[in-house]
Parts: sequence; C-alpha cells; structure tokens
Amino acid sequence: MKRFLDLADLERDAVLDLIGLAQRLEHKPEPQALAGKILGLVFFNPSLRTLSSFQAGMARLGGSSFVITPGQGTWQLETRLGAVMDADRAEHVREGIPVLASYCDALGIRAFADGKDLEADLAETQFNEFTRLVQKPLINLESAVNHPCQALADWKTMDELHVPQRGKFVLSWVKHPRALPLAVPAATLHMAAMRGMEVVVHRPDGYALPDAIMDKARRAAAASGGSVRETEDRDDAMKGATVLYAKEWGSTRHYGDAAADAQLRAKLGHWMVEESWFAKADADCKVMHCLPVRRNVAIADHVLDGPRSVVLREAYNRMPAQMAVLHRLLLA
Ligand code: CP
Repeated sequence: MKRFLDLADLERDAVLDLIGLAQRLEHKPEPQALAGKILGLVFFNPSLRTLSSFQAGMARLGGSSFVITPGQGTWQLETRLGAVMDADRAEHVREGIPVLASYCDALGIRAFADGKDLEADLAETQFNEFTRLVQKPLINLESAVNHPCQALADWKTMDELHVPQRGKFVLSWVKHPRALPLAVPAATLHMAAMRGMEVVVHRPDGYALPDAIMDKARRAAAASGGSVRETEDRDDAMKGATVLYAKEWGSTRHYGDAAADAQLRAKLGHWMVEESWFAKADADCKVMHCLPVRRNVAIADHVLDGPRSVVLREAYNRMPAQMAVLHRLLLA
C-alpha cells in the first residue's frame, strides 16, 4: 500500500487485512516496528482525535511525528493556484508541502472542503493538488468528501461489536447550528455499503447526498451484496435498524449559501436523536457518531450516555486502525 486516501482504492480483502492487523497490534504490540520512522501531520483544520491518535499510534510503534498547523507558529500557507501573494500568506503549498514531505517518511494532511463550490469539492480539487505534491506515503486525514481513517475505525468497531455484515445501517442527518462538510457522511456511507450492509440514508428535504456520493456507494454495495437507498420517513428508516450512525451535514440544495441553509435547518429541531427514535429498531441497535458531537442538538444526553452509544469505542479505534495503516505504508 503506497497511499491511504480512500477506502474505495482498496479491495475488500485489503480493508479486512488492515482491520486484522489493527486487532493483532492491540493484542501483540510491536513497540519497535517503526523505530527511526517519522510521520508528518499537517492540519489546515482543527482536530482532537485525528491528531492525537496518529501521534499516539506512531509512538506506540516506536516512531515519531511532527505536527504543522499552518499559520499557528508557521507561515500562513497559500493554497490557491495562480494567487498573487501580496497579502498575509507568506508561503505557497507548492513549496511548503514538498518541503515538509522531505523531512518525513509519511505525510498526513487534513484539508476540509471549501464549502462554496459543490462540484469542486466533489472533485477533491484541493486534495488532489496535495497528492501531486507528495511522492511519499500520503494519508488523508479528512478531505472535502472523504475521511477514510474514520471509516476504517468504524468498520473495525462494528466487527468487534458483532454487528451483522447484512445488518441495517441507517446514516441519519442530525441537527447542527451550521452547515458541516460532506466528508464523514460520504465516507461512512461508502464504508457501510462496502461492508455489505443494507444502508438507508435518512435525511430531510434539501439534504439529499449528491448523486456522485450515492452512486459511488451503490457501486460498492453492488460488489459486496449490500444495498443503498434514501428516505425522509423515520419509521421506514429505523424499522429493524442495527446501527444508527448520526451525522450533521450542510444542505446540498443550498450548498455554499449559509443564510439559506440556516433558514432550512431552523425548522429541523426534531432531527435530534432521542430514545423514541428506536421504537421499531433492533432492541440492541447501536448509536455511532464520529465526534465531536453537539449534545442535546444532534444527540440527546440520555442516548449518548446510554447503552446504545459506542462513540467512545469508535474514537478509541482510530488509534489501532491508523497504526495498521502506518504499519502497511511504512514497512511494505
Ligand atoms: N472524528 C474526527 O475526525 O475527529 P477530529 O476532528 O477531532 O479529528
């Protein structure tokens, strides 16, 4: 494996190999496996889990890491191609990123969607530029429409909780004060479809996922024996559900228009997960969320603190899942 940018780049067996390796590293640690190796981490956007789990995972394998947060103790990095750099951004990513890559053995980059132009974000315009600038092993720490590290950890979490491969996986839109990117919903949808699940996207009018994201998931489902559909009907979505994956995202009808999105979501306060949602679900239906989560906006306290919630397990699994990725990238 040369890069870890999208679960869709891997065969299903390669995903299962990573999950198996993650489990092995949990039970049989390899504290010197990556001795002498250096991981560079570039965060254009904030993080709690991704940053700390990569640093901890690299250290547990005997390697080391450095973190760059452009503009915070470093030069501000310009990302626009052809920019006239006469304002505050002192260095362009076309120099900055290759320089950072030259100091390490693998580089991870987080760069969220611009959130203005849906087609540009769906095309991963920004992240694709990074892939051209880095010749070393590269890890997507969350791009415009992907978060493969989260998806891998979530697959592992479902496996260890014995969630059936053909179980019903409901990806539900939930409330947030403002529009959030499509990266986690897109990656999660694809992951559950690739795992072979019966996937239902439950979302209000105005928040349908773009065709490109739905079609990619449908192709994965066709290959794995799963299925993908969408509905606005909560009873239909939740009936027999084995997993409810709650996630916030912005209106695709009003992409890039914060005021129109805010007007639409103002009427959607009832899209907060509460125990009443599970009346027709499997008795053991789990609640997943990638975190961070707004308590009592997206998910009620009593659900997050109750027995259905596996959000802390998902967050923990980021570390062993990413250790497996680092192992395969750096020891191949
Ligand atoms: N889920 C996730 O990626 O968390 P962070 O944004 O804190 O890294």
